[in-house]
Amino acid sequence: MNPTARINPSILAADVGHLHEACRRVEDAGADEVHIDIMDGNFVPNVSFSPSVVEMARKAVSIPLNVHLMMLHPDQYVDPFCDAGADTLLVHIEADHDAEETLRRIRARGVRAGIVLNPATPLDSIAPVVNACDEVLFMTVNPGFGGQSFIPDPLPRMAELRSQFPELAIAVDGGLNRETCLQCRQHGASVFDVGSSLFKPADMAAEIRWYRERMK
Ligand code: DX5
Ligand code: ZN
Repeated sequence: MNPTARINPSILAADVGHLHEACRRVEDAGADEVHIDIMDGNFVPNVSFSPSVVEMARKAVSIPLNVHLMMLHPDQYVDPFCDAGADTLLVHIEADHDAEETLRRIRARGVRAGIVLNPATPLDSIAPVVNACDEVLFMTVNPGFGGQSFIPDPLPRMAELRSQFPELAIAVDGGLNRETCLQCRQHGASVFDVGSSLFKPADMAAEIRWYRERMK
């Protein structure tokens, strides 16, 4: 039995001119957390939001903020994003930092710490840090852009991690829709960071109910 499914819409898929309303829409639709993608133009070939967007989201909603740092030097940004109001801060294992130390510093701020693996990264790369994590996130696209196609390669890794850690928050991000979410659920995922396919339908609440109903 997997932990209860959590649905976290990603505001990268929102209209950038209406980010405040997008955060309110996510909360009103009954989502669990707001997923906020931070891209630095180095770790990924795109630039997105700054700590001020996290601060805006913190004022807009009362549900937790799940902040995904796609940054080459995430260790340099732990304090700004914790100060801005992140409830979970996720950093990549492939980034240029001492991951264990970064995770320790995040937890020391009273914030949940998460490690992220790109689609081609082997599971054993996180073995030394998994006990320092509150969440492990498997990317199912190469990070940097919303609206990409789902890459299934991490599915067996998800299942393997679930068999080792029955209670762990195992998250998935990239190319998720009704079909790929159910596939990930069957492989042990419990947190679903969904962009385009939650923002496109007119009724986000109905869409989230569909997911909850099928991922009990
Ligand atoms: C991708 C981001 C994702 C993105 C997912 O680099 O980390 O969170 O918003 O968007 P979709 O669901 O459209 O693939
Ligand atoms: Zn993300």
